[in-house]
Amino acid sequence: MALAEDKNNILNKIKSAVSLDDLEKIRLYYLGKKGLIPEALKGLGSLSIEEKKSKGQELNIIKKLIEETIKDQKINIENKEIEKKLNSETIDVTLPPNISEQGKIHPISQTIFSIIEIFGNLNYVVETGPDIETDFNNFTALNIPEHHPAREMQDTFYINGDESNNVLRTHTSPVQVRTMLNTKPPIKIIVPGRTYRSDSDATHAPMFHQVEGLVVDESSTMVDLKSTLVTFLEEFFEVKNLQYRFRPSYFPFTEPSAEMDVAYTKINNKIKIGEGDDWLEILGCGMVNPIVLENCNIDSKKYQGFAFGMGIERLSMLKYGISDLRSFFDPNYRWLEHYGFSVLDSQTRSGL
Ligand code: DAH
Repeated sequence: MALAEDKNNILNKIKSAVSLDDLEKIRLYYLGKKGLIPEALKGLGSLSIEEKKSKGQELNIIKKLIEETIKDQKINIENKEIEKKLNSETIDVTLPPNISEQGKIHPISQTIFSIIEIFGNLNYVVETGPDIETDFNNFTALNIPEHHPAREMQDTFYINGDESNNVLRTHTSPVQVRTMLNTKPPIKIIVPGRTYRSDSDATHAPMFHQVEGLVVDESSTMVDLKSTLVTFLEEFFEVKNLQYRFRPSYFPFTEPSAEMDVAYTKINNKIKIGEGDDWLEILGCGMVNPIVLENCNIDSKKYQGFAFGMGIERLSMLKYGISDLRSFFDPNYRWLEHYGFSVLDSQTRSGL
């Protein structure tokens, strides 16, 4: 059987195929087992040797041409398909974000964001430090002597097999030491972070959070400490004319030291901070002990300052009406769904 069709016609057909399916159909029609070319080659048997040779050559040339054109067209079609796909999958980066309501900000994170925002407005800078601390930073430099109860095993997590006496920091106060050793006054920092104590019951967790504050300059006094803390608490609890009291206390790293209480009332089993006949202890504070300044190479005749520290879980529980400390650390999605904050919340975003 001879191939009656014109060669150019065949090639044009191949070049106008628009899909791989079409192309395959064309390939089978000409080159498949029962296709025109193999059939024509089979038909050569009855021809003379001369004719066989010339027709055979001709057919083989056409076969090769068809094969090559199909190969080229295949690449063409594939490229066009990729281009089409790329065009249809274009992302418009100028579109507004499509943030779904999935996932919530944990109340502890939210509380930290609020604290940073309020102190940020008072020109405090955020400092951080490592969870594993040296004995010197966590205790010695802070004037916590060797025999102090805070050093005893039941409170402190020591690092096993560690000859350097490193501990999991028991408070955020060692970041005071780090900052004083590394920067010259004036210093004005807050330090939110994780802290650890070997203690676990309804009101204690082995890992919890604190925020530390430290101001060191040539003139800050107890009055500045007081106004700073009152401003912070009024902003944080969103109350005006907060009723508070300072009680004398003891911390090795401050002298004098005080604890601050805020007044509260219970209305329908809910705590309302700001006024009332009952008192809630909220934080520890004082004037930085000159011994601590000297331990950190700061001239205590020239510089003075104040410090304060408070528990973030406690602040969070009081502000958001969370009654059980342990619930903060339970992997309970429904709890987070209820007490968590939207990613789109303005306070959350401003703190980020
Ligand atoms: N570090 C203390 C604690 O963990 C809290 C504290 C009290 C920090 C008084 C201070 C401070 O900076 O002045 O209980």
